[in-house]
Amino acid sequence: MKNRDPATFHVKSFGCQMNAYDGERMAELLAAEGLAAAGEDADLIVLNTCHIREKAAEKVYSEIGRVLKRAGPEQPMIAVAGCVAQAEGAEIIRRAPGVDIVVGPQAYHRLPALLAKARSGGRALDTDMPPESKFGVLPARRRQSPAAFLTVQEGCDKFCTYCVVPYTRGAEVSRPFAAILDEAKALVDSGAKEITLLGQNVNAWSDGERGLEQLIRALDAVPGLARIRYTTSHPNDMSEGLIRAHAEVAKLMPYLHLPVQSGSDRLLRAMNRSHTSASYLRIIERVRSARPDIAISGDFIVGFAGETEADFAATLNLVRSVNYAQAFSFKYSRRPGTPAAGMEGQVPAEMMDERLKRLQALLDAQQLAFNRATVGRRAEVLLERPGRRPGQLVGKSPWLQSVHLETGAAIGDLVEVDIVSAGPNSVAGLGLGAEAGNGPGLAAAAVAA
Ligand code: 5AD
Ligand code: SF4
Repeated sequence: MKNRDPATFHVKSFGCQMNAYDGERMAELLAAEGLAAAGEDADLIVLNTCHIREKAAEKVYSEIGRVLKRAGPEQPMIAVAGCVAQAEGAEIIRRAPGVDIVVGPQAYHRLPALLAKARSGGRALDTDMPPESKFGVLPARRRQSPAAFLTVQEGCDKFCTYCVVPYTRGAEVSRPFAAILDEAKALVDSGAKEITLLGQNVNAWSDGERGLEQLIRALDAVPGLARIRYTTSHPNDMSEGLIRAHAEVAKLMPYLHLPVQSGSDRLLRAMNRSHTSASYLRIIERVRSARPDIAISGDFIVGFAGETEADFAATLNLVRSVNYAQAFSFKYSRRPGTPAAGMEGQVPAEMMDERLKRLQALLDAQQLAFNRATVGRRAEVLLERPGRRPGQLVGKSPWLQSVHLETGAAIGDLVEVDIVSAGPNSVAGLGLGAEAGNGPGLAAAAVAA
């Protein structure tokens, strides 16, 4: 029997940080509707899905099956949200009878109406990209973790030939300046010390007069906000002013995620990236001269249609020239409906596996080297969560490394830390000040693998 009157909900988000943000906002909306947050045994399960790579739809159907198999007399109500909902829409309603609501990323502010329909026994589908913005309708932000996300820009007009984002998230839209500042202040009032500005093309944010640089400078003036980050950026939108902000705005953290995808100009053309490997390297150089200690991160696709060993070697060369602090690399995944899906010269799976391994080995070595180079540095760490051992907390360094330390300080505190050892995915720190003095414990301070 289907539960038609849910009292509790659980949002499960997959994919990118913007999906995590949307998941939080849906949770706030459902709470405002009088539902209580609960775990996986909740009466309403919201699957907030991602469509960027690999058999996304198949994964969602098996996740739906898993939820429905759950023990108990009543079946939970199921809502499918996010980019798979947008891409598959009515197909989900047709193929998965256990699903009650399908709602796209630009329509989830209408969840209360969709929920009302499901409560009365109907099945509700909304994948509109309505003219009104969801942000104008969503309830106020609630209690936040010390590091919060804030969507400032959504959608993409770049149409890289492999990418579904322009279709699932729609055209590029920037939120108004004042609305962003209001939300930032609300986040700070509810406990956030760090805000990461989110957008598929965040550095293309503009209200016609101002760009991301001015937005960052305005946030710099918000009392109580200690740190500003932004992600994800496109190389072509790295303006001079934004680069200058890295030199001039103390709250802007020394970290830049700037995807390049490939080091081969031939492939960059086929991907419709509208930059070259040389123009990308010039941007990195300019950013580094503005902020010499900046940590550079990137995204890579291996095995894009037509990729030869020479193209792949060009990617490895670019990685060697940049020297990344962190990076994300993926096997090319043919997304139905994108121009690249029909291109000649699709690369065999084993070749992709082999190239991905080689690329990741190089990127892993660079990440470890970056972490090791920070040993001996003193840095401010924002404590975000408990560690695995009693008394241990985990936070983020300015360079977005996870820092483990034993400290008497609390989650949400910004503490001065000496970085004392490094592993591939995190570093260990020694707290200074009142909570210091845990020297012997430090030798054992675990660095997560
Ligand atoms: N296949 C593999 N990786 C992809 N990305 C986007 N689309 C695809 C695809 N079809 C990667 C890009 C992008 C990141 C968010 O996901 O590297 O920067
Ligand atoms: Fe996708 Fe390219 Fe837009 Fe990034 S810039 S979201 S990869 S189309």
